[in-house]
Amino acid sequence: MQPIDAIQVTKGMKTICIASAKGGSGKSTLATALAVRAGQEGRVALLDLDPGTASMTMWLQARGRPDELHLDTGDGLISARVKALAASGRFDFLLIDTPPMDVELIQAAIEAADAVIIPVRCGLFDLAASVVAAEMCREHKRPHAFLLSHVDGRHPILVEQMIKPLSGMGPIFKTRVKYRKAWITALNLGRSAAEFDRESRAEVNGLWDEVATLLRKGRLDE
Ligand SMILES: Nc1ncnc2c1ncn2[C@@H]1O[C@H](COP(=O)(O)OP(=O)(O)OP(=O)(O)O)[C@@H](O)[C@H]1O
Ligand SMILES: [Mg+2]
Repeated sequence: MQPIDAIQVTKGMKTICIASAKGGSGKSTLATALAVRAGQEGRVALLDLDPGTASMTMWLQARGRPDELHLDTGDGLISARVKALAASGRFDFLLIDTPPMDVELIQAAIEAADAVIIPVRCGLFDLAASVVAAEMCREHKRPHAFLLSHVDGRHPILVEQMIKPLSGMGPIFKTRVKYRKAWITALNLGRSAAEFDRESRAEVNGLWDEVATLLRKGRLDE
């Protein structure tokens, strides 16, 4: 695992955005898991751009609204909110969870991020939808990578079929997030799957290390 100083090349808060125009790709689940993981390295703020029912805000309530995960409830432009959080000097990491479909909001979140994770499930429609966020990242020159999520361990062929077309659209995290019960039950409990499931913990740690590389180098290792 990489220590915090490896990530903090520049002084100040690092903003990690989880974005995809495709609904149900795993954005909010990953945002909660990474929030917990980030909390092991520094002070964390959360920006929930989809504070409806199935959201990070709801998960925080189930977790008992812990002080160490600060939920930003401000309003106004995303860029201004991110700047204000950074300027406060109170946070090392900001996690942004985005809604599906709302292209303007996704774009604003991507623009404000230091690194963008684009979760993708295996399937043609998922592949097609994931290009939207990737193009935004390229347009705004934001370091980004695709994350294969909900991977069915029984059918590795499905991942293999995704790799070629997806790699033509952008970099892919080596870490894969498997479809696992722990990821679902964790949400009900206001927890991260990594807090009680060893395999999920390995995935979150692997992803965190790769995100750290993305933040530090602006790209993934070969
Ligand atoms: N690794 C996983 N294994 C099994 N189920 C998962 C996994 N990750 C997420 N899920 C489940 O998949 C569903 C969609 O996840 P989630 O709500 O995080 O996606 P989302 O991209 O935030 O969706 P939306 O676009 O609606 O905001 C949820 O029911 C969640 O519990
Ligand atoms: Mg969501």
